[in-house]
Amino acid sequence: MIKIAIDGPSGAGKSSIAKAVAARLGIVYVDTGALYRTIGYYVRSKGFSRDNIAGIISCLPEIAIEVRYENGAQHVYLNGEDLGDRIREPEISMYASAVSAVPEVRTFLLDTQRDIAAKNSVIMDGRDIGTVILPDADVKIFMTASNEARAERRTKELLAKGIDARYEDVLREMIERDYNDSTRAVAPAVAAPDALLLDNSSMTIEENVAAVLDIIREKCGGTV
Ligand code: DC
Repeated sequence: MIKIAIDGPSGAGKSSIAKAVAARLGIVYVDTGALYRTIGYYVRSKGFSRDNIAGIISCLPEIAIEVRYENGAQHVYLNGEDLGDRIREPEISMYASAVSAVPEVRTFLLDTQRDIAAKNSVIMDGRDIGTVILPDADVKIFMTASNEARAERRTKELLAKGIDARYEDVLREMIERDYNDSTRAVAPAVAAPDALLLDNSSMTIEENVAAVLDIIREKCGGTV
């Protein structure tokens, strides 16, 4: 079994690249951000504001999260319901970032993430995969790109999903979210000391996938 950790800020292309690499290697792609988004969605649906820590914590006993793989795609079920792209709305991104700073939320999601990695070969993307979730991962990559490149990609992605988005808003919210995620007290989004830094500002998706596959083959030799 192989464990690959891909961390980095929002819009760095982690999910597109990890998905493509998973397909090439025939392993499971795990999008951990979707778990925080699902909790953010629930907290918002209960009418709590993003800074209501007690409100966020009070939601946890009411939440059952299940991750299923259907035709190779990850689906996250919240109390039996698949929320689909509803968790991709910009407002839910901000809620996801807020709930992810609450230690109780991180503990709540820990076993779900580690269980998937214990049962499957995985490429898992998030913010703390190399530092907290899979500290013994075979390969750790911290993927990043300039703010402008990331905001541009994120805006296109949202528009392609039919979600209303303006570049200026996406850039502003992305910078706010990165700040929250990288400065929080628990499991901040930082590169693990043994992670390889990969700046893909000027790479195409194909070049980026090839770069990641090269890193994996170099680290794992003939096992992949
Ligand atoms: O990767 P994403 O944009 O879907 O993640 C949404 C939020 O969830 C992000 O702002 C921070 C949080 N998150 C986290 O704290 N740890 C992870 N492993 C993944 C996401």
